Amino acid sequence: MRPDRDYIIQLLSTEGKEALQALYDKAYSVKKQFVGTTVYFRGLIELSNICAKNCYYCGIRSGNPDFERYQMSFEEALKEAKWCYDNHYGSLVIQAGEREDKPWTDFITRLITSIKEVTKGKLGITLSLGEQTEQIYRQWFQAGAHRYLLRIETTNQELYKKLHPADHSFEQRLNCLRTIKKIGYQVGTGIMVGLPEQTIANIADDILFFYDEDVDMLGMGPFIPHHGTPLKHLVDGFSNEKALELGLKLIATCRIVLKDVNIATTTALQALHPEGRELGLLAGANILMPNITDTKFREGYQLYDGKPCLDENANMCQGCLSRRIASIGETIGFDQWGDSKHFSPSK
Ligand code: 5AD
Ligand code: SF4
Ligand code: FES
Repeated sequence: MRPDRDYIIQLLSTEGKEALQALYDKAYSVKKQFVGTTVYFRGLIELSNICAKNCYYCGIRSGNPDFERYQMSFEEALKEAKWCYDNHYGSLVIQAGEREDKPWTDFITRLITSIKEVTKGKLGITLSLGEQTEQIYRQWFQAGAHRYLLRIETTNQELYKKLHPADHSFEQRLNCLRTIKKIGYQVGTGIMVGLPEQTIANIADDILFFYDEDVDMLGMGPFIPHHGTPLKHLVDGFSNEKALELGLKLIATCRIVLKDVNIATTTALQALHPEGRELGLLAGANILMPNITDTKFREGYQLYDGKPCLDENANMCQGCLSRRIASIGETIGFDQWGDSKHFSPSK
């Protein structure tokens, strides 16, 4: 049944320490019932910070000249995928800025094919590479990718227009999401919360959008202003506590009303609080994306200010994260894909 809009608004409007704890506890019990307390890892490879787009909130937008652009070599990317496999991560996520040129799309196809080969088809592959043509989405699916993340960012079209240049089209993004689904990928989307002028009612409509589009996975997080963007005037008045709280409320509300989807506890939460990602798990998330990008590239992939683990390599994050997860009494689903329970290929 379609969730009730007023109920969603009520959950998102929760205030006060005790009421918030009750909200997170409720979400946690729904999580236990529908998806369990195993955390699935997706090793995150930030393949390149070259992006053809210019979203006003993003630190690596094409209009920011203040840092060097990089693209990992084929061998480097493959080495990181192998690391994931050797360390028993069930899946990886290949993420990069958006590009549609053929050398790039071919590079990705070749990479997916090789990752499948060297991991004997066992490593799950999620892509997060932006808007592409149907033909390219198909090509990558056939090469072996089976999940795709494309955040809608906000479903309020006026807000979308304010946050993007005129040639970035909401409609096209929505069409991409539907194409991805049609092809057979597990579909992930998400939004940012705490965007300027965004209301609680807007966020409720975003959550109804997730329901209506029947998405399998969610990656969402608080907007964190970046000093090198047109939204830099928001850096000064920004409150880590408020942003974190809103991010956690969003996760909890989605878990309570959507129940069986996979929800990521994102790095943006950890940027706001040292235990941000654990708090996300306790508020209902069940997916974690450890960054396995080589440290020499991490400086260059700062979508927002304060991104954590810039100096920690994959091995250090591995130990650190295992301790963090054990500390909240959860287990890690090593060597498993951890597909969304919401997804069924025949649907
Ligand atoms: N704060 C938080 N998240 C951001 N993203 C981009 N810029 C920011 C920011 N300033 C998110 C977007 C995008 C994802 C790759 O990173 O939601 O889809
Ligand atoms: Fe590029 Fe994504 Fe940043 Fe937009 S949010 S500028 S598409 S990397
Ligand atoms: Fe990177 Fe803790 S997660 S060091």
